[in-house]
Amino acid sequence: MAMATRAFVGLIVHSLGNPDQLDVHENAVLVVKDGKIACLEPEERLPELIEQYQISEANIVKMTKGQFVMPGLVDTHLHAPQYPNVGLGYDKTLLEWLDTYTFPLEASYSDAAFAEKVYQAVVRRTLNAGTTTACYFATIHKDSTLVLARQCAAQGQRALIGKVNMNANSPDNYIETTEASLRDTEGFIQEIRALGVARVQPVITPRFAISCDANLMLKLGEIAQKLDVHVQTHISENKGEIEFVKELFPDCKNYAEVYNKAKLLTKKTVLAHGVYLLDEELQLLSKIGTSVSHCPNSNTSLQSGMCDVKRLLQNNVKVGLGTDMSGGYGHSIMDAMRQALSVSTCISFNKENYKPLDFQQVIHLATLGGAEALALDEITGNFAVGKEFDALLVDMNAGPSDLIKDYSALELLQKFVYLADDRNIKQVYVAGTLAQL
Ligand code: GUN
Ligand code: FE
Repeated sequence: MAMATRAFVGLIVHSLGNPDQLDVHENAVLVVKDGKIACLEPEERLPELIEQYQISEANIVKMTKGQFVMPGLVDTHLHAPQYPNVGLGYDKTLLEWLDTYTFPLEASYSDAAFAEKVYQAVVRRTLNAGTTTACYFATIHKDSTLVLARQCAAQGQRALIGKVNMNANSPDNYIETTEASLRDTEGFIQEIRALGVARVQPVITPRFAISCDANLMLKLGEIAQKLDVHVQTHISENKGEIEFVKELFPDCKNYAEVYNKAKLLTKKTVLAHGVYLLDEELQLLSKIGTSVSHCPNSNTSLQSGMCDVKRLLQNNVKVGLGTDMSGGYGHSIMDAMRQALSVSTCISFNKENYKPLDFQQVIHLATLGGAEALALDEITGNFAVGKEFDALLVDMNAGPSDLIKDYSALELLQKFVYLADDRNIKQVYVAGTLAQL
């Protein structure tokens, strides 16, 4: 059955690419045809558009006061298998946290039935929180990673899914040989592509430079190039991690160089954290077009540090927001927006003439910024004509927000950024299809 053509009428907000200023349409109509944006016009044109696109009354969504439509949220970095650990284990910092809490849990995903139970919940929970696109780490297990891909396909989330690679400095029950790692990675890419769901794609996922040797990373870089696959990993999250990487790769002049030598830095690469990246590393990322996933909740919870997003943007590095669940305790990009604001404000306390991020900038980072960071911005991230309709119908009358006077569009957006939770996400669309929340 062909997808119904729909019109959304009322307040419509998105980013056109300028992080400082959103594109706000107070009385607009947005037409969605075949799951894609057909047009965004002033509301006066509604009668003509109904005629032109043959839109039935039942498919016209008229927003009421306090409601608006915005692009879906993009989580550029999260670990689906770590969901059972959300909220636990922040008494340790990164390397000890991995050994104590994370690796033992991830090892249990050799059981695909356990994976099914967790991954079904993760996809449901994140869709509920408005995450229309998610870039996931799974585990080293190919079969249970495919379970995550099938859950995204079935529940209607857009996703990049990574089978994790780990052949070094890892526990005996959670490590792979180089041969198995490469074989399962290529097998995984073939099998996920064979699902035939365009919005669910593979991403090559060396865990980080501590968990993979140089040979494995180079082979993965070659696969990424050969098969034109996205890449994700972690970088410069924690000082102890950076020291260890220096010891392991004495020939590389900095952390980014380790990945660059392995051909892992591409236009389709996203690096999580980047708290301590040097100027020379930022220049390299900017030149190549590699992006950073900013995960403020994680960086605070694991006591990693404060990432200066303004500095990344000034160096022309693409940035998106990530929950890094369960390094962060939040599953929601609404939380990530708030935590990005808090961290940026804390940074400003120690700097003169430093303007912290504001609410419009974090909405940009959470939507188009995230899509750019994942190199999916030709498909999603805003309401440019021809892009897929990945969107939220937000209702600020619900949940923690009583609208007890009239608020302007920009005031409503501030309330969204500072107050919203799942209760305010009334509808979620991915590629024009309404998700079951
Ligand atoms: N670095 C390597 N693995 C991980 C992980 O699972 N979480 C975080 N936050 N950092 C990592
Ligand atoms: Fe992470």
